[in-house]
Amino acid sequence: MIGVFDSGIGGLRLLDQLRQRWGQEDFIYLADQAHVPYGSLDRDTLLELLQQNLRWLEDQGAKTIVVACNTASATGIARRYIGQAQVIEIISKTCELIPESARKILVLATPFTVQSHRYKQVLAQQRPQAEVKEVGLSCLAFMIEHLCPKQEILAYLQGELRAYRGQYDAAVLACTHFPFAREQFAEVLQIPLIDSESIALEAPKKAGQGTLRIVTTGSGEQLSRQLHQLMRWDAVCEHVQIEK
Ligand code: DGL
Repeated sequence: MIGVFDSGIGGLRLLDQLRQRWGQEDFIYLADQAHVPYGSLDRDTLLELLQQNLRWLEDQGAKTIVVACNTASATGIARRYIGQAQVIEIISKTCELIPESARKILVLATPFTVQSHRYKQVLAQQRPQAEVKEVGLSCLAFMIEHLCPKQEILAYLQGELRAYRGQYDAAVLACTHFPFAREQFAEVLQIPLIDSESIALEAPKKAGQGTLRIVTTGSGEQLSRQLHQLMRWDAVCEHVQIEK
């Protein structure tokens, strides 16, 4: 079984991709909506939540856990997790998707991811010639999580990003929530946009029955509604309480 994790709805797009690639695998998706947005939490709080949440996924049978969240990946949880499951972070794999030709790269992320400078560090290794600018969009994950109207998202992005228009070769949507606003980013920036959805992952060795379970630490009904509105998926989502 493969666990896919995010603070909220962002990781659902990567889950969708993974199910298209590995339809015979069993998946469990956990959204920690009791604590979303992660991007404004501090590192110790995040690491504690992540340890608990990933352990819970492992207890449900997940042998591999894809951390479909840049903020969580930026804490270094893939190295720090205490448990048996293989934990995969997405930042280095996302950087590999940036076109070779891009010299000036804009990284758009949550405040935590920006402060960690994880993208800058990875890109300094992968392509030392590139000029990288990291920009925090502190309200956007929250707006997307709460299904904010597109016009409001566009107005927010225009306010935050107008100054960067025409200055960069490519932008990384370095928060898994952000691709839900891909059209609005495209309208404001008009440059190629890269995200985590097509990252290369090694195929699992064993297949399952193709089952899917979607759980949240928030409201199951609310996640079902979000899923319907954003993905056109009709699924019953369960609420779970994850104890310390
Ligand atoms: N979707 C997450 C990310 O990729 C976190 C958003 C949040 O909860 O702030 O960074």
